[in-house]
Amino acid sequence: MRYLISLAKPNAVKVLDAKHPESIEQSVAALRAEKLVAIPTETVYGLAAIATSTSAINKIFTVKGRPTNHPLILHIASPPDINHWSVDLSEVAKILTTQYWPGPLTVIVKRSSKVCDEITGGRETVAIRCPEHEVAQQLLYRLGTAVVAPSANRFGKVSPTCAEHVVNDLGDDIEIVLDGGQCSIGIESTIIDCTTQPPQLLRAGAITAEQIERECGFVVADAIGESRASGMLKKHYAPNCQIELVETFAIAIERQIFHTQNGLKSDIFDLTSDLDEYARSLFARLRQADQKDVKVVIAVKPPEIGLGIAINERLGKASNTAD
Ligand code: TXA
Ligand code: MG
Repeated sequence: MRYLISLAKPNAVKVLDAKHPESIEQSVAALRAEKLVAIPTETVYGLAAIATSTSAINKIFTVKGRPTNHPLILHIASPPDINHWSVDLSEVAKILTTQYWPGPLTVIVKRSSKVCDEITGGRETVAIRCPEHEVAQQLLYRLGTAVVAPSANRFGKVSPTCAEHVVNDLGDDIEIVLDGGQCSIGIESTIIDCTTQPPQLLRAGAITAEQIERECGFVVADAIGESRASGMLKKHYAPNCQIELVETFAIAIERQIFHTQNGLKSDIFDLTSDLDEYARSLFARLRQADQKDVKVVIAVKPPEIGLGIAINERLGKASNTAD
């Protein structure tokens, strides 16, 4: 009998089509029962736990293999909900959330007493985001409270941008994957620390510091060293294949010839003419390269403007050459 039990598959994940209304209901019920549900957002898929249960939140760290001092982002249904989870909102936080929420922006603000220590890793600040994805919105409205949701991948690996990626990574360990199709942005939200003067960019994303300066009229400083978000650690976004960054397609071809001569299978990424598509497909392409047993990905760097900044940051982390 014990033998049979040990052979049994731990847990077959349910993949629910988000287009069916009952999928949202089932996901909400699972979250209320303190289970983990992977949800689509416009950036990447998140691994959601109800924000009011420490036991549900702790499951996230176990499943992801993530150190418990790495804080999580609270996801809220509607912008005013920020007032439940934070206190002493700065002018900068008010302006940013009015301008960009719902959307791919996370703000770091002072936490309220409603935020448990497990979410912040004991910090006095908390990260909050109001996602724009319709399915995430519906789920949060029906749930009636916030979820915490890191990217739904194992710690240090490439973020998932479709339901299949989540199933491949975490399928045995979670209850439900709510399938809302491919993420429209494809890289994680911009993170701005609003508790510092000037505010600091902790992670580049689709909303850029330059855009914020232009549209909101204040400067966002580049964070350095310790204050950078943990997702910016070396080795984050690491696929198995090696990544080589090059400036032009011509150099990429030269490098590919070199690798072929040395018996190494390589793949060229060059979507510099369409940065939206570069961002949207980057993590999927890195996963495909691993599946095809590609040894070296030769990525042509996009220009260091707009979305190119965030793409370069992720490529740098994946290649482990960024500082
Ligand atoms: O687009 C996104 O933000 C996705 C989707 C699912 O919403 N989520 C995401 O979560 O990327 P995660 O856990 O993979 O990354 C959260 C980042 C981490 O680097 C963490 O260190 C940082 O946010 N963070 C969270 N709370 C923080 C805080 N209080 N101070 C500084 N950084 C914080
Ligand atoms: Mg992550």
